[in-house]
Amino acid sequence: MTLAFLLNGETVRLSGVHPTTTLLDWLREQRRLTGTKEGCNEGDCGACTVTVSALEGDTLVHRALNACILFLPQLHGKAVRTVEGIAAPDGTLHPVQDAMVTHHGSQCGFCTPGVVMSLYTAHRDGRQDFDDVLAGNLCRCTGYAPILRAANAAAGIPTPSWEQDETAALQELAGDEDVFLDGGFLPGTLDSLAAWYADNPDATLVSGATDVGLWVTKALRDTTPVAFLHRLREHQTILQDDSGLTVGGGVTLSRLRAAMAARHPDFAELIRRYGSVQVRNAATVGGNIANGSPIGDSPPALIALGATLTLRKGAARRSLPLEDFFLEYGKQDRQPGEFVESIHIPAQPDRLRCHKLSKRFDQDISAVCGCFNITVEDGKVSDARIAFGGMAGTPKRATTVEAALLGKPWTEATVRAAMPAFATDYQPLSDMRASADYRLRAAENMLLRCFHEDHGARTRLVGRGAA
Ligand SMILES: Cc1cc2nc3c(=O)[nH]c(=O)nc-3n(C[C@H](O)[C@H](O)[C@H](O)COP(=O)(O)OP(=O)(O)OC[C@H]3O[C@@H](n4cnc5c(N)ncnc54)[C@H](O)[C@@H]3O)c2cc1C
Ligand code: FES
Ligand code: FES
Repeated sequence: MTLAFLLNGETVRLSGVHPTTTLLDWLREQRRLTGTKEGCNEGDCGACTVTVSALEGDTLVHRALNACILFLPQLHGKAVRTVEGIAAPDGTLHPVQDAMVTHHGSQCGFCTPGVVMSLYTAHRDGRQDFDDVLAGNLCRCTGYAPILRAANAAAGIPTPSWEQDETAALQELAGDEDVFLDGGFLPGTLDSLAAWYADNPDATLVSGATDVGLWVTKALRDTTPVAFLHRLREHQTILQDDSGLTVGGGVTLSRLRAAMAARHPDFAELIRRYGSVQVRNAATVGGNIANGSPIGDSPPALIALGATLTLRKGAARRSLPLEDFFLEYGKQDRQPGEFVESIHIPAQPDRLRCHKLSKRFDQDISAVCGCFNITVEDGKVSDARIAFGGMAGTPKRATTVEAALLGKPWTEATVRAAMPAFATDYQPLSDMRASADYRLRAAENMLLRCFHEDHGARTRLVGRGAA
């Protein structure tokens, strides 16, 4: 079968491609579109940024993505635009390109196509939060001030007349038929995936490919057979009812952030520091849980919120508290052929506090990530769910600390008395991100910080409650 997508407005049909060919390699080697650069080849630098547009219902949605960790089958039914495809046919520059020239936003120019594509995507979407938009685009020589000046200047200029609306062309490519490739499967429905995966339990599932992409580009692993989950609309829904939110495993971190903004703002703020726009536009909550990483950012917050996981194998489903899914480092309670279908977050008043410690504010993996959901009634702690990443071989609850707080007055003395209990709950490792002592001290201080924040202290430089 063939893959079909739009490249700079033209329909491309491909057959016989290896399913883990990256868009970056294909653009540069097969199409000679070398404006899209290879910097890190692992999602970190943004030099390879492209815009991928897709229909969500009747709405055309545009996303900046890293082409180096995007596999060609992930484009099926979508529209890709590269830096070669945004100027007018007569060569007139797009407003963001023009502004980059006018405001001297480029020196060596290696980062420039990626910067331009991030700004182009923001321009199409009307986004003006440029610190976030550019957090995934590293520039070593120009410095960000001229780039930000260019971004702000272009923001005021309307969409150029030559900009194409790909809606009609994408409607022609739309469909939910299963697509079989040599070594790859693109199910059109969740039922197809469930049946196929139950029969092919050794296959690799690919959601956003922000992990699997690196297995291919850095570890040079053959991950076939692979199944791509990005077309499963039922897997990308966020449903609300009286009991809470049910988030499909295929919901991206960008969409989860939007859903959390009004409900649990600290969770949304934590997600803002997850990778970059490009990474959050690809990475899914199902992938962030299923990979079992001890430093994944969403599990501690979800565990603190009391989330439950629904796993599915064939037609059979089972649910379990998220914390029970993580058994030990590298081992999860997931049977062969079983996948993460959804996550349920119970409805509750917002009490969640999240603290991520990493060496940089943006685009860095957590050294320690602590999430606190503490209820105080009549001056006493009536409920406490505390979960950490980076403190053990899995994301893990601090049950001894919780017990030390429960029923006690919510005072600094109680908090200080509970702090040593972290050493019972966790025996962290020392590694390149932090020493074991630092991690324990940081965890204790995060609890103290929650207490002070709860009493009105301003403890943050940015985000909610910033001083
Ligand atoms: C530059 C960069 C920055 C990053 N920054 C962060 C960060 O700040 N915080 C953080 O937590 N992570 C970060 N990550 C890691 C990565 O984004 C996450 O682990 C991500 O959530 C994986 O999700 P995905 O959809 O991309 O998964 P994929 O790469 O598609 O898959 C990951 C694993 O999960 C399996 N899988 C995927 N979906 C399912 C499913 N529904 N059911 C069962 N198994 C499934 C896959 O088979 C694979 O084993 C970063 C990655 C990169 C490249
Ligand atoms: S080449 Fe660095 S993010 Fe793709
Ligand atoms: S202009 Fe040289 S890296 Fe940005």
